[in-house]
Amino acid sequence: MIEKIKEITHTSLEEYLAKLASLDGVRIALSSSFSWEDQVLTHAIYSQELPVRVFTLDTGRLFPETYSVIEATRQRYGKNPEVYFPEYQSVEKLVTQKGPISFYESLENRKECCFIRKVEPLNRALQNVDVWITGLRADHSENRAGLELVEWDEQRGIVKVNPLANWSLEEVKAYIKQHNVPYNVLQDRGFVSLGCQPCTRAIREGESFRAGRWWWEDNSKKECGLHS
Ligand code: ADX
Ligand code: SF4
Repeated sequence: MIEKIKEITHTSLEEYLAKLASLDGVRIALSSSFSWEDQVLTHAIYSQELPVRVFTLDTGRLFPETYSVIEATRQRYGKNPEVYFPEYQSVEKLVTQKGPISFYESLENRKECCFIRKVEPLNRALQNVDVWITGLRADHSENRAGLELVEWDEQRGIVKVNPLANWSLEEVKAYIKQHNVPYNVLQDRGFVSLGCQPCTRAIREGESFRAGRWWWEDNSKKECGLHS
């Protein structure tokens, strides 16, 4: 199946996703954090009524503005993106034993929180999925520089498709503007890469795209386990 996907030719994002969605018997899902990138993909999927699931991982620690975009998206397209929560027993145990902000204390604690609130729910959401679509872009960070349009996710045993792999931030923003797609107001205020509220700050002039994510950590460690 991956070979077939690699052979898809296209001249637009819409055409690419439509061709992908028309492959026989292939179950496809987009994971969306309601970022600029994910909203581009959601627009292309919902506006063409493609048979692609759209789901989000609600960590319980998102910005209020993120919930506003979820609602704006529901209204705009008349669709219900699926929402996955972490297992409540794991969150209760974590917060009871280590407190509500344990992620600032060590990398190990931070990865533990990301695993409970993001990775486990992601793995659950991707059960019975053949193709996982993401909003990853190569110029997000050095870690992501080698990103390909179509990849094999060894860990999960599924195809991972990154339709915006070679898009620039300017192209993403232009698409949002052109199609009047709802987006997170925080993104205009320096939150160019946007995750959980306690772990994201605005970037300053000259800082790299992901500098505001887990900003107290060393750059090389800035992945949460969704994309490792
Ligand atoms: S992260 O690993 O650092 O959190 P990032 O915010 O760059 O990832 O987003 C990259 C892609 O990961 C998004 O385009 C989306 O496909 C997926 N993703 C990240 N966060 C979420 C989330 N909360 N819910 C669903 N998908 C997400
Ligand atoms: Fe927890 Fe922060 Fe990871 Fe969100 S980004 S899951 S709050 S450590």
